[in-house]
Amino acid sequence: MLKRLRNVCKVLRGESVTPRRSVVAGALLLAALTAGSAMAQGSDSQFAFKNNLMPEPAHLQVGEGHLLVQPGLTVTVDRFDNARLDAAIHRAMERLKEETGVEVATAAVRGTSGDAAFVVSVDGAGEAVQGVNENESYQLDVTSQGIHLHAATVVGAMRGLQTLLQLVQNDGTQYFFPAVKIEDAPRFPWRGLMLDCSRHFVPVTKIKQIIRGMAAVKLNVLHWHLSDDQGFRMQSKVFPLLTKDGSNGEFYTQAQAREIVKYARARGIRVVPEFDMPGHTSSWMVGYPELASAKGPFHIQDRFGVFDPVMDPTRASTYRFLDKFIGEMVTIFPDEYFHIGGDENNGVEWRHNARIQAFMRTHGLKGTAALQAYFNRRVLKILTKYHKRMIGWDEVLTPGLPESVSIQSWRGYKSLAKAAQEGHDGILSSGYYLDHMSPASAYYAVNPIPASSTLTAAQKKRILGGEACMWNEYVDGKTIDSRIWPRAAAIAERLWSPESVNNVNDMYRRLHVESVRLETLGLTQISQEWASLRMMAGTEQIAPLRVLAATMEPVSWGERAHYSTEHKITTHAPLDHWVDALRPDPPLRHDFEVMVDAYLQAPRADQAGEMALTHLFASWVQAEPGAQQLMKHSPLLAEAEARPGQLAQLGCVGIAALGYLSSGETAPAGWKAEQLQVIAAAKKPVALTQFAVLTPLEKLVEAVLEDGASSDK
Ligand code: ACM
Repeated sequence: MLKRLRNVCKVLRGESVTPRRSVVAGALLLAALTAGSAMAQGSDSQFAFKNNLMPEPAHLQVGEGHLLVQPGLTVTVDRFDNARLDAAIHRAMERLKEETGVEVATAAVRGTSGDAAFVVSVDGAGEAVQGVNENESYQLDVTSQGIHLHAATVVGAMRGLQTLLQLVQNDGTQYFFPAVKIEDAPRFPWRGLMLDCSRHFVPVTKIKQIIRGMAAVKLNVLHWHLSDDQGFRMQSKVFPLLTKDGSNGEFYTQAQAREIVKYARARGIRVVPEFDMPGHTSSWMVGYPELASAKGPFHIQDRFGVFDPVMDPTRASTYRFLDKFIGEMVTIFPDEYFHIGGDENNGVEWRHNARIQAFMRTHGLKGTAALQAYFNRRVLKILTKYHKRMIGWDEVLTPGLPESVSIQSWRGYKSLAKAAQEGHDGILSSGYYLDHMSPASAYYAVNPIPASSTLTAAQKKRILGGEACMWNEYVDGKTIDSRIWPRAAAIAERLWSPESVNNVNDMYRRLHVESVRLETLGLTQISQEWASLRMMAGTEQIAPLRVLAATMEPVSWGERAHYSTEHKITTHAPLDHWVDALRPDPPLRHDFEVMVDAYLQAPRADQAGEMALTHLFASWVQAEPGAQQLMKHSPLLAEAEARPGQLAQLGCVGIAALGYLSSGETAPAGWKAEQLQVIAAAKKPVALTQFAVLTPLEKLVEAVLEDGASSDK
């Protein structure tokens, strides 16, 4: 097998050089190649606790023993009870049943705790409209005798039920809950996910799936970005042209929006609507040009970026319109907060409108930022009348802004700190943009209150949390899951768990587990990649493409945006290309890093690590002919046709490096430079995608000693 691989590598490299010694004993290698990954498994005792919790609880104590998941296991509610709690218990038990195949009872019964095996004790309903101060804490006690979940509110019980579901383990023959004692409460009360449904519409069923995912990882705010230049997505009965002319027919009816709010509330999730103003408002003006600061005509934008159309802040009619519109929306969205956007107003139309310029002079407004601050104050008055709190992106933070306005920082941590210093509540989104395609580890490292913060305790308290942001320029209902999940779960942990929970390797270990669990909720972040590959290839036989896809990821948002502008990409462009199929931060990216780091600790002794890596590199070499064959017969896949050959070359680089490292032999002078050239050539993005495995491969090559080089450098 190894010989064949080496020969393949030789041909690929057009060389006749072979490593000077067998990489490992042939029998061992063959075993690795045929038996799959040779990664060592721990020899845990049968019922030992494995921490697969995400987010990690604030306090966890592992106990002795376990409780089997047995048929008939029934929840007894012994204190407060209502339909919302019953429904939450029912859903949790349905999931337990589905995931274990054990016929537990899904309906809760009322009773006294007595010797019941599973008791839920809740003190009260919680807030009638869940607010930012809702008590989400819970205590969960699992012993070999039973389960006791206690919470002050129904929402707290929901959080505890999610933890309980994540506790389920099996020993190969039966499912059980390990004995633990958990006391948990979130670090931050505002843990959100912003969904941009304007640039690409997200169907109601998908939003519900996303809400289920949010609940699973204890996110508690759906920030619903409902209007932007590319589409107005919320039905208004008072102003029907908003969607008739501004949505291309893709919008949420009021009944659907109410359904989403209800669905979210049932899962302990608030819905904060955002109607972005005064900029990002092209779609409003198609039907209502009188709102605008320029003459028009206006159209729904089908490109991306910042556009000139902006509301006219000088006319009383603008505020009358907004008063009626907001008055209608508050009947649909009960949350205390109402998001007015406020970002990226370029002020062009204000500067070019003589009437607006005259208004600014009369009112002593120096510059467009001051005029926007005037607009914000007038909108704030309307929101206050409707008993709403205003929140906006950090552009709304201008001198004199009333303290009651909350700030969502997207342009950097500084504005959040400044807001807190000036008395505003705020949340962090800078660093949490999922569309940037960063790895989970990058988001995980972003802390709403960094260790270096010089804020006072009172100011820190004003930082309520953060929100992951899913902007949908290049995302639609089909691809959105892999753009959100599982990376949003890492952000969820950052916002829920104590600051001290920050082991990246352990986060990834748990994230992989959570990703599989999230798919059981109907999300498709793993399976959609494969479905897309099947679609592009026109066959079920896509194994070689999967090997390739596992090593690749989309380029960053910036690179895609640059391409999009250059090639005049519109909102109508299909999102069914190689880049859309690939997952950001594919699991192999981090796993490979860990494998290489572990192996490099002792390359001459670590046979298991060597075998695992050999197996991986062999799969890269072996994938080439099949992947190329499939790409030849698919115009969509042909975009990436350079990649299978490159991957095979990378596999050969890896195999050769292992040969030297495992034997301790030196490579001929110049070998490294050649390998690094192969890696450098593979770095160039193709079809908006890039390899996600190059850095560890470079590390392996760098670790090889060359003839004539000093071994103690
Ligand atoms: C934003 O990203 N413009 C809030």
